[in-house]
Amino acid sequence: MVRAIYPGSFDPVTYGHIDIVKRAAGIFDELIVAVLSNRAKSPLFSMEERVNILCEVFADIPNVRVVSFEGLLVDLAEELDASVIVRGLRAVTDFEYELQLAQTNNVLKKKVETMFLITSLKYAYLSSSTVKEVASYGGDISKFLPPKIAKLTYDKYRTGEIK
Ligand code: PNS
Repeated sequence: MVRAIYPGSFDPVTYGHIDIVKRAAGIFDELIVAVLSNRAKSPLFSMEERVNILCEVFADIPNVRVVSFEGLLVDLAEELDASVIVRGLRAVTDFEYELQLAQTNNVLKKKVETMFLITSLKYAYLSSSTVKEVASYGGDISKFLPPKIAKLTYDKYRTGEIK
């Protein structure tokens, strides 16, 4: 039984993340999507909103579970008895940061391995940050994330909740 963690901010989840989850869920016995509660960042969606959105998006994949976490990822891995951390790699620009993250995690906990899935070509350009930027100017984000989440994202800017 191999349990893996796919960590991230998912603010908001995009088709790129969804693609990685579907592929990783086909490889590992259980995949835990772990949403980081990062006090340093001020997210567009609250932790509760992000967890609810992810639970709904992955409701039809039986071996996917969604949790939130604070603190070190390797501690969560140990707590959940997960031996693999999954990350998506889009481009060379991701590599340096991801390498540092994976190596730091490996020094912190030898037993936890990081495995990379190369992002599908059609989502290689996609990031939550650019989705938010386009949405903030009222641009079309329909190619980036499911319609319901796109609406929720626009609503954040329309209601004036986010300037
Ligand atoms: O979606 P993101 O922002 O690229 O995800 C980054 C994430 C959540 C993988 C990373 O920030 C993380 O693991 N944070 C928890 C703290 C930690 O364990 N850091 C690694 C050692 S520096």
